[in-house]
Amino acid sequence: MDPNSSGISQRLAEAGQSHLLQFWDVLSPDEKAELTLDLQGMDFKEINGFFKSAMKMSSNSKDEKMDARMEPVPRDVLGSVTRDRDSLREWEAAGLLCISQNKVAALLLAGGQGTRLGVSYPKGMYDVGLPSHKTLFQIQAERILKLQELAEKKHKTKCSIPWYIMTSGRTMESTKEFFSHHNYFGLDQKNVVFFQQGMLPAMDYNGKIILENKGKLSMAPDGNGGLYRALGGQGILEDMQQRGIECIHVYCVDNILVKVADPSFIGFCVQKRAYCGAKVVEKTNPTEAVGVVCKVDGHYQVVEYSEITLATAEKRSSDGRLMFNAGNVANHFFSFSFLKDIVEKYEPKLQHHVAQKKIPYVNEKGQMIKPDKPNGIKMEKFVFDIFQFANKFVVYEVLREDEFSPLKNADSQDGKDTPTTARHALMSLHHRWVLNAGGHFIDENGRRVPAIPSLKDGTDLPIKCEISPLVSYGGEVRASEMLMRLKDPTLMIDESGVHELVKNGV
Ligand code: UD1
Repeated sequence: MDPNSSGISQRLAEAGQSHLLQFWDVLSPDEKAELTLDLQGMDFKEINGFFKSAMKMSSNSKDEKMDARMEPVPRDVLGSVTRDRDSLREWEAAGLLCISQNKVAALLLAGGQGTRLGVSYPKGMYDVGLPSHKTLFQIQAERILKLQELAEKKHKTKCSIPWYIMTSGRTMESTKEFFSHHNYFGLDQKNVVFFQQGMLPAMDYNGKIILENKGKLSMAPDGNGGLYRALGGQGILEDMQQRGIECIHVYCVDNILVKVADPSFIGFCVQKRAYCGAKVVEKTNPTEAVGVVCKVDGHYQVVEYSEITLATAEKRSSDGRLMFNAGNVANHFFSFSFLKDIVEKYEPKLQHHVAQKKIPYVNEKGQMIKPDKPNGIKMEKFVFDIFQFANKFVVYEVLREDEFSPLKNADSQDGKDTPTTARHALMSLHHRWVLNAGGHFIDENGRRVPAIPSLKDGTDLPIKCEISPLVSYGGEVRASEMLMRLKDPTLMIDESGVHELVKNGV
């Protein structure tokens, strides 16, 4: 189609983006058709507006650090699995009741590109090398299955936890195919709902959209806060309403320990009548790259570590802990009514954050250039930017070793948040479940394996112990199932019982 007759040229000219057609004459008919389709679907005025306000916000935040405006989370909105042990059972019971009444949904943010991990497929399809070789998607699906079963057993009624999965233009097809190929990991297909977040073009510092090649714009997902626009635009909110969903657990794809639809967290938020809640772990190292949940000018917010000075990050309270220690694990609770308000009222008020990037582009001579320093920006909204709108906000602190081990980077020596650290974290947790249930391991000579096995040089040896989520959601397994003989350090318990290596367990 001719861009002049379709009105595209004029819209581009009005928005100062005419350069996007500079290679039109040399494009093949297919390339022309594709570029036309991409351009037709874009609102350039809106995009230019996003650029302006994102750049303004970014330069304002460079001028003033947050420090003076920040306050830690007050104790009265904080629940803690260690400090509030007495209430845990009650919270869990409240959460399981909601699940049994079909009021709870899980919502997975899986639209990221996994750039740091360096894989070309969706992160949820990653196998970190567990004995079972289960992927992150499978582990999460099985946790949902188990939780449904626990709620059904307790309340003697059938129930389901719908699973909403947000993907992006880049991950949608492969994610759907993966689920279908694996038969939805045993979940009912109608309870697994995929939807797609929006994409935005990358722009140079002058606000010009970047061309990735002669006929293609450089596009990226609009951040995990793109969730709210997508929920409204794709009928997901209505789907939730029709199903009678009241509580939504939103979480990141990359945390291997994530307790999907965690009944204790949900129960805590429900009992506190919260509109919104954030799960956190204690930040112990001032330079750790996690955002902290805190109040800024009286409103709840996550402040990324790059937004504050080291002096503030290092401040300690009288008990010796970091003052800003509520480490965000990207694991949130929303009441349905709050989410509806966000989608319908507040979403347009959310500003895009600016991420400076090295963006490959085609120059005016038609040459492909891979820059070695940042040459433009990507614009992203963040999922937690809506905390400020919650009239009742709560924070739930859990133990890092039980619930947080994200997969961000590829394996490397001494690497942080890698497949190896994720695998070890899961196996160490499951090992502790066995010990806590009164079990222990014995070697082939019948000798008890120490609780923390170590090599001769004293370094810790991670026990290879994996318990299927279909056997246990959070460590609630009978001790008798866990007393077993260890002939080989690999031990795996799946739904058919203790695996081969430990069949002859006592
Ligand atoms: C995120 C949190 C950070 C927290 C850390 C803990 C945000 C904005 N930041 O940081 O405060 O301390 O996790 O691990 O939440 N995603 C999308 N669409 C996108 C971009 C990302 O769905 O456009 C999803 C990813 O698939 C992933 C999640 O959002 O599941 C987090 O994205 P990631 O880029 O890994 O966030 P971090 O920078 O690690």
